[in-house]
Amino acid sequence: MSDTTGQTLKIGEKDYPVRSGSVGPDVVDIRKFYAQSGMFTYDPGFTSTASCESALTYIDGDEGVLLHRGYPIGQLAEQSSFMEVSYLLLNGELPSKDELDKFIYTISRHTMLHEQLAQFYRGFRRDAHPMAVMCGVVGALSAFYHDSTDIADPHQRMIASHRLIAKMPTIAAMAYKYSIGQPFLYPDNSLSYTGNFLRMTFGVPAEQYEVNPAVERAMDRIFILHADHEQNASTSTVRLAGSSGANPFACIAAGIACLWGPAHGGANEAALNMLREIGTPDKIPEYIARAKDKNDPFRLMGFGHRVYKNYDPRATVMQKTVREVFDALNVQDPLFETALRLEEIALSDDYFIEKKLFPNVDFYSGVILSAIGFPTTMFTVLFALARTVGWVAQWNEMISDPEQKIGRPRQLYTGPTQRDYVPLGQR
Ligand code: ACO
Repeated sequence: MSDTTGQTLKIGEKDYPVRSGSVGPDVVDIRKFYAQSGMFTYDPGFTSTASCESALTYIDGDEGVLLHRGYPIGQLAEQSSFMEVSYLLLNGELPSKDELDKFIYTISRHTMLHEQLAQFYRGFRRDAHPMAVMCGVVGALSAFYHDSTDIADPHQRMIASHRLIAKMPTIAAMAYKYSIGQPFLYPDNSLSYTGNFLRMTFGVPAEQYEVNPAVERAMDRIFILHADHEQNASTSTVRLAGSSGANPFACIAAGIACLWGPAHGGANEAALNMLREIGTPDKIPEYIARAKDKNDPFRLMGFGHRVYKNYDPRATVMQKTVREVFDALNVQDPLFETALRLEEIALSDDYFIEKKLFPNVDFYSGVILSAIGFPTTMFTVLFALARTVGWVAQWNEMISDPEQKIGRPRQLYTGPTQRDYVPLGQR
């Protein structure tokens, strides 16, 4: 819980209380501002607005710090597992060995989809973007799992959360299999969460699939890096959808839709496409010039962030993971060299220095995912898979927060003032 600091901010004639959290900027509590002043505050894109209290994730964008429940992302990525981070985000503390085993067991018991859901896939065109398929199928879960849609019941909320975390790899792998015309594979619960996902994606029923431990570890780490990121656009979408009392499956489908955009989760796909377009390092100056040109809409994809005005700590881990995956698979990709050179050139350019534009998590993820064998259209799907745990943890936190209300922003109206209707024949 936050504390009132005793300080106030005077706006007009009234004093507004200042509240502080455990770390990070204080907030001015302006909930009574409209009632007392008759004015709204104006903050498109919420650049100065805290929409909620949260104890999950903390980011210091100037210092390049990202903490989940207090633990630095670098330590979690190096020493933890995606299942452990999922438990941490959902429950607040790292699990004991028994708690972790039980959690993994619970998740593994929910990995299958209702058999009829497979029919949904056949309704999509084969060339549909897998994010379109995922959005539709996740929304449809609420038509199948009625026994976990009562949001007032904490037990049902937790079952829905476990179901979403468990089924997302199955849904994602099936979206991929459908797009390439291969049969769906059922989950294999003897494998790890990530190993099972790799098998469902790249395995075929005709052959035994051997999970490559280095790829499994890298993929698990990529999931950790994407697990949560405080009140970003898709998480805020999930919270906003959930604030009306919508069921969790519908809320996560809304989050997936928001994540799809190229300014958010779609940036990893866009970043790799951009690197492919640039091709070789000699073309980099041309693209840097375009990114700096105010009259050109082109931006360096995978660069810049609303919150990080320093190196995104996830990009540091991601860059290291590229080398590990390349070594494990014995591959070389010239695009990685292009990416490294692009980063070097951009970080020494005044435009990027002044605007504090650094590589974000998406800059290197495409290179790794491509080396593992994923087509670019699957990149955002993988992001959605991992972010599901953050979404459900944030959704649960919101539902349990007595201060939360239905999200209902106001506006600064600039349209016509009242006027009389003109009949069609007189216009
Ligand atoms: N290339 C070139 N210029 C950029 C870039 C970029 N990638 N990003 C920001 N800028 C410039 C803008 O043109 C703007 O310049 P101005 O002040 O002269 O107008 C300034 O930097 C600030 O940019 P805004 O768009 O106002 O910053 P905002 O916080 O709204 O946007 C965003 C952040 C959307 C991430 C932006 O940096 C961007 O579009 N990056 C590319 C897309 C991307 O990589 N998205 C992934 C984000 S991470 C994630 O979702 C996992």
